[in-house]
Amino acid sequence: MAPGTAQAEQLLLHTAQRRRARDCRHAWGLSAAVLLLLLPSAAGLLPPMMFCATPPETVPLTLLSGAQEKGAVCLDGTPPGYHLQRGSGTGANNWLIHLEGGGWCSTVKDCSSRRNSELGSSNFMKPILYAGILSSDQPLNPDFYNWNRVYVRYCDGGSFSGDAEGQAPDGSTLYFRGLRIYEAVIAEVMEKGLANATKVLLTGCSAGALATMLHCDDFSAKFPQEVSVKCLADAGFFLDVKDISGERTFWSVFDGVVQLQNIRNVLPKDCLAKKEPKECFFPAELIKSIHSPMFILNSAYDSFQVRYVLIPDSLAPDNSWLCCKHNIRNCNSTQMEFLNGFRNVMVDALKVVEDKEGWGLFIDSCFTHCQTVSDISWNSPFSPRLGDKTIAEAVGDWQCGCSERVKEIDCEYPCNPTCSRQLPP
Ligand SMILES: *[C@@H]1O[C@H](CO)[C@@H](O)[C@H](O)[C@H]1NC(C)=O
Ligand SMILES: *[C@@H]1O[C@H](CO)[C@@H](O)[C@H](O)[C@H]1NC(C)=O
Repeated sequence: MAPGTAQAEQLLLHTAQRRRARDCRHAWGLSAAVLLLLLPSAAGLLPPMMFCATPPETVPLTLLSGAQEKGAVCLDGTPPGYHLQRGSGTGANNWLIHLEGGGWCSTVKDCSSRRNSELGSSNFMKPILYAGILSSDQPLNPDFYNWNRVYVRYCDGGSFSGDAEGQAPDGSTLYFRGLRIYEAVIAEVMEKGLANATKVLLTGCSAGALATMLHCDDFSAKFPQEVSVKCLADAGFFLDVKDISGERTFWSVFDGVVQLQNIRNVLPKDCLAKKEPKECFFPAELIKSIHSPMFILNSAYDSFQVRYVLIPDSLAPDNSWLCCKHNIRNCNSTQMEFLNGFRNVMVDALKVVEDKEGWGLFIDSCFTHCQTVSDISWNSPFSPRLGDKTIAEAVGDWQCGCSERVKEIDCEYPCNPTCSRQLPP
């Protein structure tokens, strides 16, 4: 989504991927760290020329006022930021708050280097393009186009949930202040009209979707009973599964994040009574404690988890695995069995949602990551469909309570013919 250099890097990345698609003998080249930086903004990249009438608009950055006094700062101590596009007409009192994603930093070293990017410092943040669920194009985004739409920048590396300080190798202070950023930005937006909202949707993708799950109930509690507050988590259903070598990759990443950033206050008390904090950071546990209506949107073959959790580069997977993680179409039958095992864990973990009233599910089998913030995935001729609905239609129907069938789980890959090659990788 971010223009400028990030977009240029994006294009480079995509060129690199196309090259690799032609010749799978090349290793999955770019380092995981670089990809983690690029992935969150992968959405909204490909211009949807064929079906998008209005050109996408750039929305300026607003820096949080009084950030330093509140201790609500990015990893490097700079003020955090957000983008706001005002609603109008029937949407004037409705608010959509999107929490940006972008992986996590789980070590002092990772968090220190993050300060040299927009994911750790507002010095690098630029205006962004609003696409997908954030777009103000009515045909593309019929349910939210005229809402007030806020895009909160992610610069703490801990899913808007940490509260601690650390010391970088160069002796400077590292600020882990995600929780304060979240609180301070919401408070500022409250003053800009969120406090008078009639309908509110808290959303986010990837690490921002995890933040959405972590904050859904405390966010809802900020509003009077009569306000409709719902949460939409896009591509944040991170699973504690074993990678191809049998190691629990994410177990150690989340352990690092939770400890380094002192993530505790946002974790559900009933979970902490029974389990370790890092366990309560996993959505499979988290969702058991969430009371507010939530929609979980995820691919059962989430390309991010396949690439970084199931088949991490650190294991130096052989060529056949590299081709498989580059594109699911290249996976052989043994590899598909492994990926179907991942899908089964996800489907099992989501069983608790069946009994939750007011919740929604859209678990497709398309190899992609973050499906709300790109026009193509959100609502286009190339959108994944379940029960004959695009993601925009399914989320819209759930939001307004217009449809009874809002819990859809796709069949196994490659059964769904609407999984298009146009989807963001
Ligand atoms: C909320 O609405 C009231 C009454 O219309 C108004 O006085 C107040 O300024 C509004 N607050 C915000 C934050 O917009
Ligand atoms: C698929 O690829 C993996 C990794 O190279 C290999 O171990 C496995 O034997 C292959 N399976 C088939 C059915 O070719």
